[in-house]
Amino acid sequence: MSDFAELHYEGQTYKLPVVVGTENEKALDISKLRGESGLITIDPGFKNTGSTKSAITFLDGEKGILRYRGYPIEQLAEKSSFLEVAYLIIFGELPTKAELEEWTSDITYHTLIHEDFKRILEGFPSNSHPMGVLSSLVTSLTAFYPESLDPSRSADEVRMSIVRLLAKMPTLAAWSYKNEIGQPTVYPDNNLDYGGNFLRMMFATPAEGFEVDPIVSDALNKLLILHAEHEQNCSTSTVRIVGSSHASLYASVSAGINALWGPLHGGANQAVIEMLENIKADGGDTDKYLAKAKDKDDPFRLMGFGHRVYKNFDPRARIIKKAADEVLAKLGVNDPVLDIAKRLEEAALQDPYFVERKLYPNVDFYSGIIYRALGIPTNMFTVMFAMGRLPGWIAQWREMRKNGEPIGRPRQVYTGENERHYVDVNQR
Ligand code: SDX
Repeated sequence: MSDFAELHYEGQTYKLPVVVGTENEKALDISKLRGESGLITIDPGFKNTGSTKSAITFLDGEKGILRYRGYPIEQLAEKSSFLEVAYLIIFGELPTKAELEEWTSDITYHTLIHEDFKRILEGFPSNSHPMGVLSSLVTSLTAFYPESLDPSRSADEVRMSIVRLLAKMPTLAAWSYKNEIGQPTVYPDNNLDYGGNFLRMMFATPAEGFEVDPIVSDALNKLLILHAEHEQNCSTSTVRIVGSSHASLYASVSAGINALWGPLHGGANQAVIEMLENIKADGGDTDKYLAKAKDKDDPFRLMGFGHRVYKNFDPRARIIKKAADEVLAKLGVNDPVLDIAKRLEEAALQDPYFVERKLYPNVDFYSGIIYRALGIPTNMFTVMFAMGRLPGWIAQWREMRKNGEPIGRPRQVYTGENERHYVDVNQR
């Protein structure tokens, strides 16, 4: 195998070193290209461009492989816990029993948030979308923990910022929801585990207690694990580029939350359920909507389908689809949109338009159906994604800072006006 590629341009030859990863992925290193040739590359959406080297997640879009720090997602979803997976993703190794106990204890201890957060929350009208509230509350953490503003401080202080963010995210998320529905906020109960504590803060009211259903908290644990990391996706790349200016972890993650909100990214899980509900309301005619998805003149897309990297099945979608069947059966829930989703998937997987473009269900196609069965309201689906993705954002931000990566500042090709001169307004 050659360790460089040659670029021939205007009588010159430029050697581009080939970088090879531990899973034999290959990349052309163009870091010296502009200096040597004056040329830059251009790749809208970075479909063919690597932004970094990373040791956190490996995924193979053709084979449907996803591993966190080398561990297959299927094993972690089946056997691990979200906090254990968060530790693995952030620090690179599965924790020992003692390390896991300390990690869990630290995070449990820091679930409470300052009472002044209520004053911030009161500034948001009811019906505010929880994603906008959550990103604001995460940024507000910088006001309460100013020492977190300097991420180059000691490893212990960075670890404390990480613990605080993981610990307080469920509280901030649940309080964002309570604000939306106009109910009083519920304080964390440190006798509950991570998922159970979140569910109680979401659904308990002063009028009624709340018992955590183990079926629901087990399903939530699996969903959080499946969403925990996914290498250089849109929101994680946002976290990295914001963090590359040496902005704090909280400011960087808040930017990631906003990037995730978009319906082409994490917002798709909410868009999928809204799409399925519309199809159901319109008589359940899945063929009509498949035709709309294929019609170039129709802006309708089959939400939850397609992926930039997975050109075969998304391994997470397979696990979530199986879990959806199990959870709905255990809870005795019969959700008509699940049948519509399965009919859409079955038809699309046999349709040349989708097959030729290698469009398969992604992580968002079935997740909303489980969230709904767990009682999570639609407006909170992307917040659930953000809660799950938090360890990945943290790990990628930490890796980028530890590796001393430069500030992200892409180049461009200018296509505007050539030089021209100012004309007085009275002469125009
Ligand atoms: C996530 O990157 C990650 O890892 C993201 C994520 C993570 O864990 O972080 O996996 C989470 O964001 C999953 C994706 C959720 N988004 C959706 O479900 C929205 C619907 N999907 C699409 O909008 C689209 O598939 C994307 C955004 C996911 C991927 O877009 P690409 O890679 O830019 O592909 P494209 O838009 O260029 O599409 C290629 C072709 C086009 O047709 P042609 O122009 O070649 O004729 O496929 C068509 C598209 O029109 N196409 C679709 C389609 N998705 C792509 N046609 C109908 N319905 C769709 N859903």
